[in-house]
Amino acid sequence: MLACTRIGAVHTVVFAGFSSEALAGRIQDAGCAAVLTCNEGVRGGRVIDLKSTVDAAVRSCPTVRHVFVSQRTDKPAVMGQLDVPLDQVMMSQSPACPAEPLDSEDLLFLLYTSGSTGKPKGIVHTQAGYLLYTSMTHQYVFDYRDGDVFGCVADVGWITGHSYVVYGPLCNGATTVLFESTPVYPNPGRYWETVQRLRISQFYGAPTALRLLLKFDNSWVKKYDRSSLRTLGSVGEPINHEAWHWFHSVVGDGRCPLVDTWWQTETGGVCIAPRPADHGAPIIPAMAMRPFYGVQPVLMGEEGDPLPGNSVSGALCISEPWPGMARSIYGDHQRFVDAYFKPFPGCYFTGDGAFRSEDGHYQITGRMDDVINVSGHRLGTAEIEDALDEHPAVPETAVIGYPHDIKGEVPFAFVVLKEDFGSAPLAVLQELRELVATKIAKYAVPEHFLVVKRLPKTRSGKIMRRILRKVAMETTGDLGDVSTLDDPSVVKEIIEAHELYRKQRGQE
Ligand code: WT7
Repeated sequence: MLACTRIGAVHTVVFAGFSSEALAGRIQDAGCAAVLTCNEGVRGGRVIDLKSTVDAAVRSCPTVRHVFVSQRTDKPAVMGQLDVPLDQVMMSQSPACPAEPLDSEDLLFLLYTSGSTGKPKGIVHTQAGYLLYTSMTHQYVFDYRDGDVFGCVADVGWITGHSYVVYGPLCNGATTVLFESTPVYPNPGRYWETVQRLRISQFYGAPTALRLLLKFDNSWVKKYDRSSLRTLGSVGEPINHEAWHWFHSVVGDGRCPLVDTWWQTETGGVCIAPRPADHGAPIIPAMAMRPFYGVQPVLMGEEGDPLPGNSVSGALCISEPWPGMARSIYGDHQRFVDAYFKPFPGCYFTGDGAFRSEDGHYQITGRMDDVINVSGHRLGTAEIEDALDEHPAVPETAVIGYPHDIKGEVPFAFVVLKEDFGSAPLAVLQELRELVATKIAKYAVPEHFLVVKRLPKTRSGKIMRRILRKVAMETTGDLGDVSTLDDPSVVKEIIEAHELYRKQRGQE
């Protein structure tokens, strides 16, 4: 990443868990000239064959002139025409490389993320504002001081890794930690062993990992020295109270401020967090609380009007620009305008809902659109539906988010099968799982599949996901207004199918 920025090249990092098709889609959209990869990735005791994913992807990417291959493991990569052995060619290069002067608004990087409709969008971040914003938030939200070792355990493939593994900490001269594993490999003490060994001052992680770890005995935490820790941070999804208190009292021994930081790929850096605040101001558990310097949150009501006062809930918008905000969607500025600035004219719309408490503190209540969050990974339900709909047996699907005690949410797919496939649903469902894994990634594969005859639709043909959510959650006692349904009998049909599905799962 830093080498790219040094020569003025725009980078777009792709998470190693993506399929070759997902990688190809990003390379094509960005028109990449070069791809950099390792021969293999290593994670949690598993080897990921990155080179073959890249090989399969670049076949459909005519803009790629070179594939630079670094040897992460001993296994020699099979080298093709486009491939350049990175470690070898680097040895023959001059160690001096003057930095390319750029404009403050020149592109720094693209990062692809999911929206509620269409293909993933290439979020554009630019040079100066992004760096200023990540370095300031890194310093003030986490109380970074010279000499600290900053431990953000996010993958560099997501915005958290960009802003708080690479750009923010390094801009501030921090020592940053590159964590290349999982929280449970080789055992559930891995994070805390790392804290002890590296004397980490700030530990920044995701609620999904905490929910996984708190199921193990506390001795996995207690046996390591965590006295170097000064601030704890959480990011990516709402943190539940159990995880918050475990993190605060078991990991932090109750002595480290725990900051629940709300932000997004699009915001560049943390926008709402309990710190900075007047020295020692109390932190309310599981609340993001305070806007960062210069961030102006506004809650919008159903009529699109800003809600005044406190103890109100609404659509979370930001009314003034801030340095770290995304500048565009690569290649489609109109989509950028439409997605973020049309819903509430004059404001940036986040897609999240929020509550402003009696004391004026913010609490994020979750997405208001068709975006779900699986283990902190953002997914558009439309993306999963697109992948499922490619199956010849499947005329139609609807995907919703369904609660999961570790992952936060998992995709739940309602699937309509063509008549002639109805007799072999299990085989089709297995093919559907594989389809999603190859089109997107394994984590996008629905945990639940419910085969239904029809989907609930309005007279104008729109799927009423609200009803599907209620069926999945078994809260159909209160269906709300169903008067716009084209044929209300469909609800009973789906409830019955769901009851059967539950019985079958119960027997497994
Ligand atoms: C979405 C952004 C922020 C970097 C990692 C995710 C959800 C993020 C919180 C939080 C509740 C949160 C929101 C947001 N989210 N942080 N502290 N509390 N929800 O970045 O992939 O762009 O996802 O993650 O729904 O819109 P992302």
